[in-house]
Amino acid sequence: MNSNYEDVINAIKETINIREASLHEPNFSETDYNYLKDCIDSNFVSTVGNYVDRFSKLISQYTNSKYVIPVVNGTAALHLSLLVAGVKKGQEVILPPLTFVATANAICYNGATPHFVDVEKNTLGIDPEFLRDYLTEISTKKSGKLFNKKTGKIISAIVPVHIFGHPCRIEHLTDIAKEFNLVLIEDAAESLGSFYNDKHTGTFGLAGTISFNGNKIITTGGGGAIITNDKKFADQAMHLSTTAKIDHDWEYLHDRIGYNYRMPNLNAALGCSQFEHLDSFIIKKRKLFLKYEKNFSNIKGVQIFKEPKNARSNYWLNTLFINKEIFDKEKILKLTNLKKIKTRPSWKLLNKLEPFKNCPSSVLKVSQELEETIINLPSSPFLVD
Ligand SMILES: Cc1ncc(COP(=O)(O)O)c(C=O)c1O
Repeated sequence: MNSNYEDVINAIKETINIREASLHEPNFSETDYNYLKDCIDSNFVSTVGNYVDRFSKLISQYTNSKYVIPVVNGTAALHLSLLVAGVKKGQEVILPPLTFVATANAICYNGATPHFVDVEKNTLGIDPEFLRDYLTEISTKKSGKLFNKKTGKIISAIVPVHIFGHPCRIEHLTDIAKEFNLVLIEDAAESLGSFYNDKHTGTFGLAGTISFNGNKIITTGGGGAIITNDKKFADQAMHLSTTAKIDHDWEYLHDRIGYNYRMPNLNAALGCSQFEHLDSFIIKKRKLFLKYEKNFSNIKGVQIFKEPKNARSNYWLNTLFINKEIFDKEKILKLTNLKKIKTRPSWKLLNKLEPFKNCPSSVLKVSQELEETIINLPSSPFLVD
C-alpha cells in the first residue's frame, strides 16, 4: 500500500479521466433549451403557468409525497416549513453543526435559536443514540413541551440534514422526535434521489425541503420545494408562499404577512426538462463513486465515504476521509486545486461562525473530527463519460 500525495492526485485523475473539474457542475442538454424557449414563448414566465404544476407533479410522483410547494430556493423552503410547523421566537431548534449555513439561518429567520447536536461518522448526520442521551440529560418535559433545563427555552423542532446527499438514520431520528415531542422538518436540499429503506428522503417528518440550486443534482437555476403529506400544512405553506393572497378574480386581499416565495414558471420549465435526466444522473454518479472507491482502495490513509446501511445515496458529493496521521488535508486541497481539480473541505462547523458561536450545543467531538478530515471530490455526473 502506498501513501503519497501523488497517488491521491492520480486516483482522482484516473476517476475523472484526467481533466480539470469543478466540484459539481450543472448538466444541460437540448431539452433544457426547448423547454425554456417554450416557456418564454408562452409569456407565462412568473409564478403562474403550466410548468410549475407539471414540476410539482413530477416531484410528487418521484418522492411519493402528496403535496409539493415549489419555491424560490431551498432556504425559503426551510424558512417557510419551520414557520408553518409553528417554530416561534425564543424557541430552540436542533440541527447538526455540519451543514450549509442555510439550515441555521432559516431557524433564525423565525426568531428561534439553533441548538447544535453532534453527528456520526457512518452517515454524517445527527447521531440518534447520542441525541437521545443528550436530550434525556439536558431537557425536561412540561405540559407536553420540551424545555432546555439550562436556558429555560422550549426546544420545539429538529432539522436533520442528509449531508452531501447521503441519508442520515432518519427513521431513528423520527422516533426520537416523537418521543420528545419535537416537530421534524427534514433538510433534503442535497438528497433528491436518495432513499432510506426505499422511502425518499424528506418524507419522514412533517415536511421536507429540497434545493434546485445550480450545484445540485438537478437544477432550476435557483429553486426549492417543500414536500409533505399533510394537507393543512401544504395549504398554509402554499398560501404563505404566495403573499398570503386570498383567491379572488380581481381583488387584492391578503390575510397575513406573506412571502413572495413561489417558484417562477421559467425556473420550473428548466426543472421539468432536468427531471427527465435525473435517473441517468444518479446512475452516473453512483458509477463515479464506484470508480473513486476502486482507485482509492490501494492508498493507505484515505477512505471514500460509502452509503450507510439501509440507504441508497444519490452520491451528490463524493466524500474522502483523510487519516490525519498520514496526510495533511490542506496540502491535498492545495495540490489538487493547483491542478484545477476543485476539491473542497466540508463547511466550517456552524457553531464556530460569528452569528452562531453563542448558540447552545452538545459536545461536538465527531463533527470536529469530520471537519478536520473531510475532502469533497469532483462529482458531476458527466465525469464518468
Ligand atoms: C444542506 C443545505 N440546506 C439548505 C440549502 C439551501 O438551498 P438553496 O441554496 O437553494 O437556498 C443548501 C444548499 O444550497 C444545502 O446544501
